[in-house]
Amino acid sequence: MLHRISPLFLVVFTLAACTQSDVPEPTPGHDLTRDYFSFANTQKFVTDHLSLDLNVDFAAESLHGTATLSMRRVDADAVEIILDTRDLSIEGVSIASDDGDSVDADFRLGERHDIMGTPLVIRVPRELAARQKLAVSISYRTSPKSTALQWLPPGLTAGGEHPFLFSQSQAVHARSWIPLQDTPAVRITYEAAIRTPPELLAVMSANNDPAAQRDGAYRFDMPQPIPSYLLAIAVGNIYFAPIGEQTGVYSEPEMLEASAFEFADTQAMLETAEAMFGPYQWGRYDLLILPPSFPYGGMENPRLSFLTPSLLAGDRSLVAVVAHELAHSWSGNLVTNATWRDGWLNEGWTSYLEKRLMEVIYSEERAAEENVLGYRELLLDFEELQPEMQALAPVLESGNPDDFQGTVHYHKGNLFLQYLENAVGRETFDVFIGNYFSDFAFGTITTEDFLDYLDENLLSAHAGKVTRAQAEKWLYEPGLPADALIPTSDTLDEAAAMAVAWSSGEMAIEDIPFANWSPQATVHFINSLDADLTPVKLNELDATLDLSNTRNAEIGRTWFIQVAMRRYRPAYEQLEQHLRRYGRTRLVKPVYKALAENGSDLLPAQQMFAAARNIYHPLTVASIESVFRRAAEAEITAASIVRLYVAAHNARNVDAMLTRVSDDVRWMSIDGGKVRTETSGKAELAAEMAGYFESSPSSRSEIRHIQTVGGYVSVVEQASWLSGGVEKSQCALAIYEVEESLISNVWYHAAQPCGGSGE
Ligand code: BES
Ligand code: ZN
Repeated sequence: MLHRISPLFLVVFTLAACTQSDVPEPTPGHDLTRDYFSFANTQKFVTDHLSLDLNVDFAAESLHGTATLSMRRVDADAVEIILDTRDLSIEGVSIASDDGDSVDADFRLGERHDIMGTPLVIRVPRELAARQKLAVSISYRTSPKSTALQWLPPGLTAGGEHPFLFSQSQAVHARSWIPLQDTPAVRITYEAAIRTPPELLAVMSANNDPAAQRDGAYRFDMPQPIPSYLLAIAVGNIYFAPIGEQTGVYSEPEMLEASAFEFADTQAMLETAEAMFGPYQWGRYDLLILPPSFPYGGMENPRLSFLTPSLLAGDRSLVAVVAHELAHSWSGNLVTNATWRDGWLNEGWTSYLEKRLMEVIYSEERAAEENVLGYRELLLDFEELQPEMQALAPVLESGNPDDFQGTVHYHKGNLFLQYLENAVGRETFDVFIGNYFSDFAFGTITTEDFLDYLDENLLSAHAGKVTRAQAEKWLYEPGLPADALIPTSDTLDEAAAMAVAWSSGEMAIEDIPFANWSPQATVHFINSLDADLTPVKLNELDATLDLSNTRNAEIGRTWFIQVAMRRYRPAYEQLEQHLRRYGRTRLVKPVYKALAENGSDLLPAQQMFAAARNIYHPLTVASIESVFRRAAEAEITAASIVRLYVAAHNARNVDAMLTRVSDDVRWMSIDGGKVRTETSGKAELAAEMAGYFESSPSSRSEIRHIQTVGGYVSVVEQASWLSGGVEKSQCALAIYEVEESLISNVWYHAAQPCGGSGE
């Protein structure tokens, strides 16, 4: 990309643009405590317990049965219960009171919302109007399109013989497999009876029994109250291998041994976490390794984290994801964000705890490397995010909670907590951490609840270290505060320095000690290469490190992003293999994005996607499709502005032409490599065009070929005019630079006779 605003500039600029008042001033009527992504009327009724009774039908790709919600009335006058659903067919609703009478209840489905789904409005029968406790039973079936469920045919599993089903409820997808109050503000206990084909095993985010008899009828109990996004199920040819006393791994048998090896440190991680953050409140901690289409690196389903098989690098180098999901047992599962705008309370805290675990289990150096890589990703995200979306706790009423802020919640959240730790000292901060988790255990809090707690228990208690206003800057302002601690790593610094030295030819590739480096250092090296590296150098690097065939998913991701950005075509075949090997969104989406945005490969990227999409999860598919949509829109915008400009030219409308150009537009006519005429600014261009139209009343310009490359549009224009009664015509190449929807520069290369195609 030729005109990238440097991250540093962006941060300085966005901070300067902020006012002194840090507390957000949302649109009038906005309620910071409300969950804008749920229809549930939780101020009238609240669910305490869920009882599921479900059949797993692989042929119909459907779960069907009943969900019974034990609900408590909080508003004496309420006569309607509103639940969240999405693509569910509701077959009937009955309500029982605590003394057992069950009455059929009227219900209707409201209007469907793209992201929130469809509200299910249930009328409480008159005879139950005075009851405080209601058991609402809903018979339903899920749609094969359920956004939470992926039904995999045997061909997309490791074993290839049995089908597989798994769920992904976060953020707002639980409603697509269970009708319920789908908001993190409500915590429920649950139990489930699940029937599957007899040869398969079902597991849930509950009390899985490693020794369960495989007979197709399974019962689960989750006695600790959890938010709905932590409801989870998987069914398949799943087996168990122990890791430690309290820990183990579930997966298809083909991956079981490799998984037990890769995640062998899980028991130690759990014990370290307990020593650092307080008691582990959930009983067992097991891992479930899913087929490749699992859309995330990991998902912190309680007692049973779900993981992508792309972590199986063979060298335990990617286990930070396990540290992360385990840490969610405190931040997220024990103390939960009240709404998705407060997601940093889950993900920022967890990223911070993850680094603390990595430091103890592995080394300070390893944690430092992960910190730097996270920080670099944050800077890239800042470049793409509107300032208001760069706040840790933005004001949000719409959008998709799965992806509205990139990595801000994670890495900016992590930096905020590191900043606090640094200011008060680790010892003091660790006491604060322990108290925080015990004071809010099994609770749900907003950013503002956290801020008040922080103020009272840390900032005021240790006055003179950090002010409330400083904390508010992190929460409500874009970019990073000027006094943020920027992570550093000696090993990554060395890798970056060598990338620069090798790029410029000062260092030979044989002298780079790749063999001593962590995969993280290799990632950083690749990201630090000179932008203008020649294909010969890229080939040398690929040949030395065998990057195109790496089995380390993070190295592969990093390399193929560069391959796509730089259009290094010799590696395109392996790039395509990478896109078919992995389904985790993080590993494939940025590669498609880099192709779509390199100015030439949008179409090939769409073709590669068409060939791979059947192995991806619906959430991954949707996310990649949005990349293509945006890239296509960007291309259309730049090209269409040039088209409008040319049309205005042909209409001889100088005013209309000028609405397409920036105030300081530069127009250069180039002949034989030399600038022949140059026009700067709108006024000069207007005068010149008016004169030209007068002297050449019959001239026209027609676009013969147009192509967009980044913000540049190259156009072959055919100019025609009458000269002495004879029609003349010539072609010229013009390059328009389009910035922020306006033409800012035009290079017009002297005319030449038109070829057959005009190109
Ligand atoms: N809870 C998230 C996954 C998630 C986030 C699902 C938002 C839906 C909406 C999980 O804990 C997570 O953060 N996974 C990361 C792990 C990484 C940061 C170590 C992932 O999948 O990349
Ligand atoms: Zn997480």
